[in-house]
This record gives sequence, structure tokens and C-alpha cells, in this order.
Amino acid sequence: MRGLFITFEGIEHCGKTTQAVRLVESLRSVGHEVVMTREPGGTTIGAAIRELVLHSKEQIDTVSELLLFAADRAQHVRTLILPALERGAIVISDRFHDSTRAYQGWGRGIDTALIDRAIALATDGLDPDLTVLMDIDVPTSRSRGDDASDRIEQDSDVFFTKVRDGFLAIARGSQDRTIVIDGTLSIERVASKIREAVGEHLASVST
Ligand SMILES: Nc1ncnc2c1ncn2[C@@H]1O[C@H](COP(=O)(O)OP(=O)(O)OP(=O)(O)O)[C@@H](O)[C@H]1O
Ligand SMILES: [Mg+2]
Repeated sequence: MRGLFITFEGIEHCGKTTQAVRLVESLRSVGHEVVMTREPGGTTIGAAIRELVLHSKEQIDTVSELLLFAADRAQHVRTLILPALERGAIVISDRFHDSTRAYQGWGRGIDTALIDRAIALATDGLDPDLTVLMDIDVPTSRSRGDDASDRIEQDSDVFFTKVRDGFLAIARGSQDRTIVIDGTLSIERVASKIREAVGEHLASVST
């Protein structure tokens, strides 16, 4: 039986990691095998790419950045995500290809056709079964974070507004797999909405 692939998306500090950890705990407590991972950096090679992309002192060209994220994802999909799904596990990834469309497409303005090619090459057509987009405004994002700790966090509010709008537009175009949750609700309320959506999904695939 093929497992279930769930992704968490949204701008900086929207609550992806907080909620991914909670969902992992809740699914494990009822006996599911769950693999929690992230992009970039879910594999050893990915961790090296993460360091390059997020902490390089040198200016990174926008297409180089797109391809570095794609290389991370290709390694991630082929060596970690697909094998786990094939043995029936639930895979929860903190970011996936919607982040590429939102940041590199909507944020940096790279042509959609190029983005689509990079994603197709990396994923070989793998799409999440369920994507949780936590939506918060940019001032809330800034208020939750410590001082910009990586290269992308140093981008402008204008950039993050475009990324947020991008995530919302992507969600509207993929309503079959995406739930949008107001990420300014309490951690507990967001967690319970996510558990409910995942529970419904699991019930629908097991009947
Ligand atoms: N619903 C919420 N209400 C208030 N604070 C929250 C909420 N969710 C998360 N936080 C807080 O906001 C901060 C960022 O949360 P978290 O690290 O989960 O976000 P993230 O989306 O993973 O961020 P990043 O993009 O930087 O990885 C943390 O201090 C966390 O406790
Ligand atoms: Mg995080």
C-alpha cells in the first residue's frame, strides 16, 4: 500500500515546524509510521545544499538558487520520500514544491515555465496528497521571528508579501489537495484543524 504524503507550506514563522511536529506526534500515537522531513535539508546532500543556499556569503544568482533547491528536492524525493511512501509510511515534509513556486516564481519573478521544468525534473510528477498552507501576514511573521537568521529572511517585506500572495494563489489552483488555515489562530486551534483535515483524508482513502 502506498503511504500518504503531507506537506506544510507558508511564509517564515507561520508555524510549519510547530504544527508538523504536533501532527507527527498525534499520528504516531495512534500507531502510524511517520517520517518527518524538510526542504531544503532532508538528506545529507540536502543539508549541505541548505547551508549553501541559506548561509552563503556570496550573492546567489536566482537561477542558481532555483537549481540548488531542485537538486535538494531530487535527492529528497528519490532517496527518502518515495521509498518511505512505497513501504506505506506517512511522510510529512516541512516545505515542498509550492515553496519553489511561491518564492522563486512569485517572489523572485522567475518565469513559470522554467519553474515548472525544475519542479518536474526534481519530483518526477510526485505531488502531495495533502498540503497545509498556514497563512499569516508579513508583520505577524516579522513579529514572531528573531532577527533575520538566514539569507532569505533578510529579503524585504515587499518580497514576502509577493510570496504570501503566491502561496494563496497556488492554493486556489490546487484546492483538491490544499487546506488553507489562518495561522494567526492559537497553536492549539491550528493543530486541531489540521488533525481534522488529516483524519478526514485518512478516512476517505481507507474506505
Ligand atoms: N499559531 C501561533 N500563534 C502564535 N505563535 C506561534 C504560532 N505558531 C507558531 N508560533 C511561534 O512562532 C514562531 C515560529 O514558529 P515555527 O518555527 O513553527 O514557524 P515556521 O513556519 O517553521 O518558521 P520557519 O519558516 O522560520 O521555519 C515560534 O516561536 C512559534 O512558537
Ligand atoms: Mg520551520
